[in-house]
Amino acid sequence: MRDANPKTIFLKDYQVPDYLIHTVDLTFDLAEDNTLVKTQLSLVKNPSSSSDNADLVLMGENLVLHSVVLDGQTLSHPDYLQTDEQLIIANVPQQREFTLTIENSINPKANTALEGLYLSNGMLCTQCEAEGFRKITYFLDRPDVMSRYTTTIIGDKQRYPVLLSNGNKTGSGELSDNKHWVSWQDPFNKPCYLFALVAGQLECIHDTYTTQSGRVINLEIFVEPHDRDKCAHAMQSLKYSMAWDEEVYGREYDLDLYMIVAVSHFNMGAMENKGLNIFNTKFVLARPDTATDYDYEHIESVIAHEYFHNWTGNRITCRDWFQLSLKEGFTVFRDQQFTADRTSKAVKRIEDVINLRTRQFAEDAGPLAHPVRPDAYIEINNFYTLTVYEKGAEVVRMLHTLLGEQGFRKGCDWYFEKYDGQAVTCDDFVLAMTTTNPIDLEQFKLWYTQAGTPVLTVTSDYNATTQALTLNIDQHCPATPGQHVKKPMHIPVRFGLIDQQGTPIPCQVNSNTALANELILELTQASHTYVFNDIKEQPVVSLLRGFSAPVKLVMERSLDELAFLLNYDTDTFSRWDAGQQLSTQIILGLINDIQNGLALQLSPILIDAFQNLLAQSWQDLSYFSLLLSLPSETYLAEQMPIIDVVAIHKAREFVTKTLAENLQQALQTWYLNQHRDESGCFNAEAIGRRRIKNTCLHYLTTLDDAAIKNWAHQQFKTAKNMTDQMAALSVMVNNPHYARRQCLMDFYQQWQHEPLVIDKWFSLQASSPGLDTYDTVLALLKHPAFELKTPNRVRALIGSFSQGNPLHFHAANGTGYQLLSDIIIELNSLNPQLASRMLSPLTTWRRYDDSRQALMIAQLERIIATEHISRDLYEVASKSLS
Ligand code: PHE
Ligand code: ZN
Repeated sequence: MRDANPKTIFLKDYQVPDYLIHTVDLTFDLAEDNTLVKTQLSLVKNPSSSSDNADLVLMGENLVLHSVVLDGQTLSHPDYLQTDEQLIIANVPQQREFTLTIENSINPKANTALEGLYLSNGMLCTQCEAEGFRKITYFLDRPDVMSRYTTTIIGDKQRYPVLLSNGNKTGSGELSDNKHWVSWQDPFNKPCYLFALVAGQLECIHDTYTTQSGRVINLEIFVEPHDRDKCAHAMQSLKYSMAWDEEVYGREYDLDLYMIVAVSHFNMGAMENKGLNIFNTKFVLARPDTATDYDYEHIESVIAHEYFHNWTGNRITCRDWFQLSLKEGFTVFRDQQFTADRTSKAVKRIEDVINLRTRQFAEDAGPLAHPVRPDAYIEINNFYTLTVYEKGAEVVRMLHTLLGEQGFRKGCDWYFEKYDGQAVTCDDFVLAMTTTNPIDLEQFKLWYTQAGTPVLTVTSDYNATTQALTLNIDQHCPATPGQHVKKPMHIPVRFGLIDQQGTPIPCQVNSNTALANELILELTQASHTYVFNDIKEQPVVSLLRGFSAPVKLVMERSLDELAFLLNYDTDTFSRWDAGQQLSTQIILGLINDIQNGLALQLSPILIDAFQNLLAQSWQDLSYFSLLLSLPSETYLAEQMPIIDVVAIHKAREFVTKTLAENLQQALQTWYLNQHRDESGCFNAEAIGRRRIKNTCLHYLTTLDDAAIKNWAHQQFKTAKNMTDQMAALSVMVNNPHYARRQCLMDFYQQWQHEPLVIDKWFSLQASSPGLDTYDTVLALLKHPAFELKTPNRVRALIGSFSQGNPLHFHAANGTGYQLLSDIIIELNSLNPQLASRMLSPLTTWRRYDDSRQALMIAQLERIIATEHISRDLYEVASKSLS
């Protein structure tokens, strides 16, 4: 914890390290409240360093230092100097390698920040990214210092029968006092943020994978004993990931052992430590009766993400933390491709775009907007953002679009070959692409440095006499903090024309290029005009197919045209998006009517369009479900100049209910036809059937119909899988229902020993639009199962309320804001990272009416005044006010 006025770190100040560390030899003697750490380092002056006789400055925080020994000589003051955050040693050898041995102790039990070495349900584990290693020992804690590690762990045999670290096990033995030891050696150079240690009473689930070159890899998943029946899916996902990376990127695993440990207390999703991933239990544990289809898919994608990091992140890492997107953007892109291949390409793309457009676009338009490669930070933990991850992945996707599958692969191969074992930059990644492809990406690099979401304004004009279509596209990027004027960007726009029957019309950018059903328009200037000739009839323009760039599209279209595209666009993304635009336009109109006190009436165009969809037969039922889903309240809010949460909620409810009234028959048929028990089936068909069935149930239960209410109740009682049980409970909690209380109680009773399911129980109640939600949340805060020290629980209750329940969080009297701030202030001292993440819904205060703005600002000011405010919270709170 630090006091305010913390220092800003700038990319422009980057300097190579003055010293390098070749080997690191660690010995841990474990105890919950007092772990002894002995660190032996072999160091050399960095030949690239420009400073003569520089002090050796090691970083360290919350450490109790016992001794410092240089080349066998015990140092004392003033040979070294100790500050809150550093250990400074003067006069170290400049011409030869030297050895430094440090002994210190740490207190894992007191570590509620979950960074460094900490305790979770009796298990000891580490989290070192980004700067957690300095909470274990004094070190050059920066990713461009890469070293060879050996680790010896000593611990009590009963408490810590399993002792794990990176690499391969090289020895073990018994000690007196009922202790034992295990040694590990990692043959690969790595930055210290990839170091890991785990100790505890863990069960091991074992399997093997044979690589394409015939090496047999041991796969081990470690969990608490009662969870051993929930690992099969994670293991299978790991094997799929390994095969996919070989097939698609030609990347093989490099150690003989791959371990995954699931822990209950974790700030993020998971961590790619070399050979020893540490996961939030949420992304490992699954059984058909405890996890939803959604959970299954996320587990598979997070397992893949961490596995893919072995090449994109570990073998090749980041030079400094400003380059975070080098590994995260690329790895997210890779896990998106993987999930698209494993499930439904259309559905995966749509879900990613929903996330990007609702959450990343909001970040990019707010006070915390920053480039994919930020150029300044106070606390790096605040930069694990949607921009670095999701927009970063979009940037890689655009490169893939511009270069094509093969060109992109050539660039990746060169990147892996050239930079293996190094710590590099985003520019190096782009260089790999330009070295291997005939393309100039200088302008494209603006995607890394310019924040904000570009807006494309499009007009089209068809001239029947000349049979020409003129398309005009202007680009403009709004100002963001610190960046007032923006340059035009290099933007790939996938584009096609269709005729009135829905058939593609071949077209060409100019007479030198071939005719094609689809083109990629490469925007590079503020304004472009394209003329397409020989177009025989008025075409319909389909633009930004597959969401080929992370931009906003402004194009005036009639409801009829959008309904046409919803029925006929051949691109699955654009087809869905047309439906979203159609319902968005309609709902925004109704919001306006509500604000003006007018009676509401739903456009028959939407009813007809949905009727049409329901009458068709569908291959991909998950995709069909998405076509039937209305834009979320959060997405709708993003489209309004001043967000009116009450009107948004009313209008959306009205549309849902009116659609249900008009389409009841068809919805019931779909519900009943798909209602069968396929618990434990996780193929696309079974998942699709559950999804469309539950989508229909969601519409139907808005009707005041006793029979339908009973269906929901029956589904809850008889469900054998969590998808169906949760869907039923959710419609009962979100609408008035006679069995609501009873089912909530029964659910708790049934699942009280499964924390991840109880998280769902908290989350569901906190997200409900029901009138009593605020009081329910207050009561749940006092529930014996609520725990501020467990991030998953905080996210389930407080996160769901503040980020998933705009109606009640933004209550006009400010009680929602007050509740959130109370929690954040408590979290500040317990877990700064979590506190700062929880703050995000308050940072968007500028988007609300004056009265809400004042209430939100008051809470932000209260938070800023917190005694001993952490860097994390200070940075987000102060930037959001400025
Ligand atoms: N590097 C992790 C991932 O993306 C995320 C993470 C960051 C986890 C910091 C813990 C701490 O896969
Ligand atoms: Zn990652």
